[in-house]
Amino acid sequence: MIEIKDLHKSYKTGSNSLHVLKGINFSVAEGELVSIMGSSGSGKSTLLNILGMLDEADSGTYTLDGVPIKNLNEKIAARYRNKFLGFIFQSFNLISYKSAVDNVALPLYYQGLKRKERMDRAMAYLEKVGLTDWAQHLPNELSGGQKQRVAIARALASDPKVLLADEPTGALDTKTSYEVMDLIQKINEEGRTILIVTHEHDIAEMTKRIVNLKDGVIIDDNKVDQIKALQYV
Ligand SMILES: Nc1ncnc2c1ncn2[C@@H]1O[C@H](COP(=O)(O)OP(=O)(O)OP(=O)(O)O)[C@@H](O)[C@H]1O
Ligand SMILES: [Mg+2]
Repeated sequence: MIEIKDLHKSYKTGSNSLHVLKGINFSVAEGELVSIMGSSGSGKSTLLNILGMLDEADSGTYTLDGVPIKNLNEKIAARYRNKFLGFIFQSFNLISYKSAVDNVALPLYYQGLKRKERMDRAMAYLEKVGLTDWAQHLPNELSGGQKQRVAIARALASDPKVLLADEPTGALDTKTSYEVMDLIQKINEEGRTILIVTHEHDIAEMTKRIVNLKDGVIIDDNKVDQIKALQYV
């Protein structure tokens, strides 16, 4: 599903250059649930942003579902992003003046679906995350966990091949974090490929594989015995 080879990325600030990713190699098969760990500044978000086509590497190759991701014009990149990728962020990134259902339906608008179909699909995904009764509420009327569920429904609505989550539990308390991980595990069990950046060990242990970044390289990459979040919720 994902294949990257010898990926490098530097940031230039003034006359300085910071070499953040120094030759990353890894691949992710369809259906995996992977966590990316590493200390602050180790390049986790940089890597996830490249995988999410929000940023480009300086060198190396990236293939997503068989498609080489390189030198795409903005329109094609946006189309691939929409088709292949769903995003979940630490701070939810919901639109504050839109209801839960409208937030979930928004990506479908950009896919050109008609209003009725957008609403039906958005409601189906809200039901999936257990928020049918909250569909008409605004984000600021929801708890952190509920907001993240809306964001997950929104990420799923366009039926992406891969979900990318940058610290999806970073703003949540422990119990709510495990509830969100329970949902993420269920979505993965349906076959969806998911990558999660986290710096919390308990969260990483709820995935099936832990990749550790340090100083811009992968220092270890191991399959793990997954701990089910359900037992804690
Ligand atoms: N747009 C940018 N311009 C310049 N430097 C950047 C930029 N984005 C990130 N960096 C630097 O690159 C390094 C890696 O950043 P990155 O955000 O990938 O780290 P991270 O592992 O996600 O850290 P955290 O756990 O704190 O989120 C850091 O030193 C950061 O300051
Ligand atoms: Mg980060």
